[in-house]
Amino acid sequence: MTVTRRALLIGLGAAGGAGAMYAAMNVLGLAPGEQRSVFEAPRPSDFALRGKSAAKVVILGAGIAGLTCAYELGKAGYDCTILEAADRIGGRNLTLRGGDRLTETTGEKQAARFGEGVYFNAGPARIASWMVTLDYCRELGVPIEPFVNGNASAYIYTSGMKAPVRYRTARADIFGTLSELLAKATSQGALNDTVQESDKELLLDFLRQFGDLGEKTTYEGSERRGFATYPGVEAGTPLPPPPPLSELLGYHLGPALTFDLSSEQAMPMFQPVGGMDSIVTALADMIGRDRIQLSSPVSKVTNLDDGVEITHAGGTIKAGYCVTTLPPHLMAKIPGNLDTRVLAALRAAQPFAAGKLGLEYGRRWWEQEDRIYGGITETDLDIARIWYPSEGFHRPRGLVVGYYNFAADADIYTALKHPARLEKALTQGERVHGPKYRKDLLSSISMAWSNRPHIEGAWANMPPSSLLHEPAGRVYFAGDWLTHLVAWQAGAFESARHVVTSLHARVLKEETE
Ligand code: ALA
Repeated sequence: MTVTRRALLIGLGAAGGAGAMYAAMNVLGLAPGEQRSVFEAPRPSDFALRGKSAAKVVILGAGIAGLTCAYELGKAGYDCTILEAADRIGGRNLTLRGGDRLTETTGEKQAARFGEGVYFNAGPARIASWMVTLDYCRELGVPIEPFVNGNASAYIYTSGMKAPVRYRTARADIFGTLSELLAKATSQGALNDTVQESDKELLLDFLRQFGDLGEKTTYEGSERRGFATYPGVEAGTPLPPPPPLSELLGYHLGPALTFDLSSEQAMPMFQPVGGMDSIVTALADMIGRDRIQLSSPVSKVTNLDDGVEITHAGGTIKAGYCVTTLPPHLMAKIPGNLDTRVLAALRAAQPFAAGKLGLEYGRRWWEQEDRIYGGITETDLDIARIWYPSEGFHRPRGLVVGYYNFAADADIYTALKHPARLEKALTQGERVHGPKYRKDLLSSISMAWSNRPHIEGAWANMPPSSLLHEPAGRVYFAGDWLTHLVAWQAGAFESARHVVTSLHARVLKEETE
């Protein structure tokens, strides 16, 4: 007799209580989880019996992957030096505040003129609860707060629409309309081949609730849609009636309605209080700032029999090992003696474009007038989406992300200078929010990741199996681009942990030989 997984769990629950059931679910891989990581940081005691000390390691890049390597190796006393090409740490973890300056690879310059307390996470900005990033926040004492990703009050605006629609209205209408359709098909017998007679009533019952259908199992609208004027002492004023099916389908709601359902994007999400770079600051403080050399671009990486030699703007360093976290397409251009197969693997990376625009306003009109507290308006315009801040509610100022776009959309804005990017994005944003989108704007700054010196891409996509998962001689590779979490800090953390584990195992082995 086959014991189904469900039957097994129900049986265990009855016999052993929730604890036994939960333990069994873990074995079956069904319990809600965090990332797989069974990481154990290297410890000084790992060397004790071997009578040797930890190795010297040069790390290229002070982004999340590089900093994490130095932090974890440092726990066991490894002598780490980080060489960072830029004049600041963090890599793509970049929080801009008033006084910060940007220079693009094109020479285009901008300055952030934000007021006190206003910041712009120009790179990573949200963290899912299962991601290892939160474990680092906990370990490093970085306070976190909710990041509003999905918001029923935010808008969807696609070119088929006459005016933007609130998420709650779009969801109610699509759930209702599709439920009515499916109920009709079920009742008329169109699904007789697939739905058993005994399940029909269950299905209809589900659809009535799922779609908030009326007595005749039709969708006439629902309070879920929201109101033109919300109820108080007086009843609410209803919105205009739902659009007919063909109009609704013309909105192409699929991507906008589902973006916050994926495991990477589902609520609740989090952000560090005060800016994403709190993570970077905390890591650097733990590592020791004296171990990080800024403005030190690397010009040569040479594997030797007994170590590696790194030439950089400030001189030459020899170490036992090197971990490079440079973007693969840039690492491929650095002279040295890496194998041609390794260089080919680095060149296989496809840099990907993304752009972000920070708009600082002197009045939080999105809260006061639109009642949007955090969250995202999705559009099919070239700005792609507008983000509202999840921090500083009701303060006088606030920062809206006027675009966060990818690929061809990002390329359009990257090709422009900042004033033209701003003008274009304001024109698009006005289509969602009207004339107030231009009023009370205090300052702005835009990030074109393809033009960011020493990075030249928002992220890089790699073929899934790459020989870069293994070291090339004494050179190890780390970064989100070597994981299944490309474009997430969690990928950089996981990759760093992987490299630290394998480097440490090798050092322990080599030292005892
Ligand atoms: N991790 C990136 C984001 O949150 C892709 O948008």
